[in-house]
Amino acid sequence: MALTNSSLVTIDDLSNGEIEGLFSLADNMSDSMKEQLGICQGKIMASLFFEPSTRTRLSFETAMHRLGGSVITASDIGATSLSKGESIADMARIVGSYADIIVIRHPWEGAAKVVADYAGVPVINAGDGGHQHPTQTLCDLYTIKKERQSIKGLKIALWGDLKYGRTTHSLIFALAKFGADILFFPSPGLEVPEHVIKKLIIEYGGELEKYGSPGQAVKDSLFPLDAIYTTPNSPHQLAMMPDINIEVELKTGVDALYVTRPQRERFTATEETQELQGKYPVVDKRLLKGKAFRKTLVMHPLPRVDELAYEVDADPRSMYFKQAARGVPIRMALIALLLGIKEISIPREDDSFIQKTDYPVYRRDSGIRCPNPECVSIQKTETKYIKSEFKVVDREPLTLRCVYCEHGFEPKYVASSDWHEGRLDNKIYHSADSHWAKKIRPENLIIFDSENEAEAQDFKPSQSVRAHHRRSDDKEEK
Ligand code: CP
Repeated sequence: MALTNSSLVTIDDLSNGEIEGLFSLADNMSDSMKEQLGICQGKIMASLFFEPSTRTRLSFETAMHRLGGSVITASDIGATSLSKGESIADMARIVGSYADIIVIRHPWEGAAKVVADYAGVPVINAGDGGHQHPTQTLCDLYTIKKERQSIKGLKIALWGDLKYGRTTHSLIFALAKFGADILFFPSPGLEVPEHVIKKLIIEYGGELEKYGSPGQAVKDSLFPLDAIYTTPNSPHQLAMMPDINIEVELKTGVDALYVTRPQRERFTATEETQELQGKYPVVDKRLLKGKAFRKTLVMHPLPRVDELAYEVDADPRSMYFKQAARGVPIRMALIALLLGIKEISIPREDDSFIQKTDYPVYRRDSGIRCPNPECVSIQKTETKYIKSEFKVVDREPLTLRCVYCEHGFEPKYVASSDWHEGRLDNKIYHSADSHWAKKIRPENLIIFDSENEAEAQDFKPSQSVRAHHRRSDDKEEK
């Protein structure tokens, strides 16, 4: 099977079989490093890192050198023409005409997709803001697989900043795909975003049990446990009693504890204050003495700050330096596959439970924009050519998912292009949750950010919207 000319933007771009095939190739390359020197001779990799990096950038560059290829690099937006206002699409076209493959890290969510859309060569997402970091996930899965042989049925705990930690977002989907159970231990206020949870449940199946307060979580409370995801592959169902359920989950032990640092560079002022107040949980020898962690792999994508004590480094359960070192064979295998220099045979596919849904797509020249301020699609330099585009992932309530950053949201107002055409008196907008809204066919749907936007486009409020206004006005008068 060839992955020639494909791009890796999110972990969904690879099937389980392709990931397993890539791991076998990484094993082979690891065992025969000298033989790989020269297989990419004459190929050029562009390494564009517009956020700081040690591991990802240097392991990609090492990987290309070990394959005998060459590397061109840019590591500071200020030293590129992006700082003069050039768009990402134009940069991608240019770099794609110089290099055979592009690796990009960028602070905007969805930036790697834009590069992949315009470059004309394979593109690898090396981290796009708080969205995803799929090659880190490959290193993480490879490590779990090497240490535990299989991922299916394992219990993996995710710890720390689950809100902005892009490595955890890709990892969540990958673990679900491979049939692992996931325990969420976020630092307070840094829980997994709702749109990630929603995608996990709708597309990967399984069940999510949420806990009201960390105090409720477990009696021996070193755990700020927030939720447990149980894969549809799991032989057991979640117990109805949350406390009993947690004890059952932890009794058999946690197979891996995936620690992440606070992503301070993405924090709001409130989140910064919370973190400064010492609310961020720390993994140290004392925590790892707990029964649940007897055989736990301690993982971290690195870099670490204060959340993982140095005293753990000598512990045989610590895996983080192995994860980083394994980045070289994993990235060698990936580069060789995307350049079409190597092929893989795909082992038996085992992701049949994943719902591959072709959602209707909402795309109009003007109107609603992604509400995520970090999304590439709303940045000034990019709006000249990117049209906002959303998957309609639900109609009740109407829920959109941005195709760039994958943030989900529920817009408030809609209209139908069918009803208003040629009949100005019927140019009416409705609340998105009204029964009228639900009757609009996807191809006729017009969605508004606000009433002002609907009215600026000459739509008039429906009776129910007007009634809602009257009720709000009455309340204000009282
Ligand atoms: N894990 C990881 O992405 O590390 P760097 O930021 O150093 O590349």
